[in-house]
Amino acid sequence: MVRAAIIGVGGAGSLHLAAIQQHLSGLVQVVAICDQNPDFRRMVEERRKKNEPWSMGHSIPISYSGPVYESWMKLLAEEKPELVTIATNSDTHAQIITDAVRAGAKFIFCEKPISNCLRDADEAVASCKSHGVVLAVHHERRWEDRHEYAKRLLQSGRLGDIRCVSIVCGGARMGDIGTHMVDWIRDMTGGEFVRVTGFLEPVTEPNPRDQDGSRRLYDPPGYMLLEMNSGIKATVSIQGGVATTPAYFVQCTRGHLFIQEWKASGFWRAFVREEQGPLIGTKEYYAELKQVDVWPADLPERNNAYWAAVAIRELLSGKTRSSGHDARQAYEAVAGAFLSHYRGNMPLRLPLQPEDRTRVQRHA
Ligand SMILES: NC(=O)c1ccc[n+]([C@@H]2O[C@H](COP(=O)([O-])OP(=O)(O)OC[C@H]3O[C@@H](n4cnc5c(N)ncnc54)[C@H](O)[C@@H]3O)[C@@H](O)[C@H]2O)c1
Repeated sequence: MVRAAIIGVGGAGSLHLAAIQQHLSGLVQVVAICDQNPDFRRMVEERRKKNEPWSMGHSIPISYSGPVYESWMKLLAEEKPELVTIATNSDTHAQIITDAVRAGAKFIFCEKPISNCLRDADEAVASCKSHGVVLAVHHERRWEDRHEYAKRLLQSGRLGDIRCVSIVCGGARMGDIGTHMVDWIRDMTGGEFVRVTGFLEPVTEPNPRDQDGSRRLYDPPGYMLLEMNSGIKATVSIQGGVATTPAYFVQCTRGHLFIQEWKASGFWRAFVREEQGPLIGTKEYYAELKQVDVWPADLPERNNAYWAAVAIRELLSGKTRSSGHDARQAYEAVAGAFLSHYRGNMPLRLPLQPEDRTRVQRHA
């Protein structure tokens, strides 16, 4: 049995716990959890006495009877877990990764974004590398079967070459969802970002992770224009307001792929034009496009705990589809978008300059 600890047990951390309890019970045992919130620790103690399960923001019941630490340093020193999962807010991710490596962890599963400062992310990734620790960052679209099918279709060449990508989503914030979106672009296109331009919008809604404003988070909606070394350009539009799941549009030389992400009932279609005659007026635009099946119609509906378990199982085999390097590349693009905005929407070359890598973003 792999001895595991979970650090930060809010919405995401309780999902890690549920993933292990529901899907990895013969392989992983959670020996300790840690959260700085005294109300949380009291709640777990009370439920334990009454033998009652609990859940945090999702409907999966959790029963946990092991120790609950206030300090991750104490947990790491006393429990020496082999697997550490991290779901605190982004300002502590990199420090906890580095401390877990020092304490002898072999596998680390960290929530996105990898950090809120690129220099700290780089130090964390380097410390994993030098100690042979496998680090996976939870950009879950890298594991989800529907995105996997879309990726295979794009790679098959059936739609031709990718020209551009556009992603739009609502009810979201740049730092919070931005790395998911740019990581998707990097994964689907197989390229690296070379330039980013960012535009931030005014903040109109309170940040759910800072309801009373005491943490002074700054994570507005916004836009990114990304340029890749392959010449592909991408736009990411992250709106505030009403939550609408991400819609992805990939324009290729012979067709396009459109995904409206919404569990199994989402809209995932690809259309292709096998041949095209000379474009005369609008004639070709109204000729029918051929629809391509992207994935089997009977794919089962899976919840987030299932996909987190897939990611952790893969991590324990010593591999991951979402490495620390992937996560720092995604974070660099988002950090660059913030900096570009502060500099009057100036396009910024990636990788960022050394002095820009030390900037701390106040998202969480
Ligand atoms: N992969 C995904 O799709 C996904 C989904 C939700 C959240 N997340 C990420 O997970 C992280 C947490 O988000 P959340 O929604 O669970 O937030 P949350 O506020 O619900 O939970 C964070 C928890 O960490 C605890 N914590 C914070 N600092 C701590 C510290 N120094 N020591 C111990 N405990 C500490 C808090 O008390 C809280 O319980 C964020 O980085 C977020 O971006 C990822």
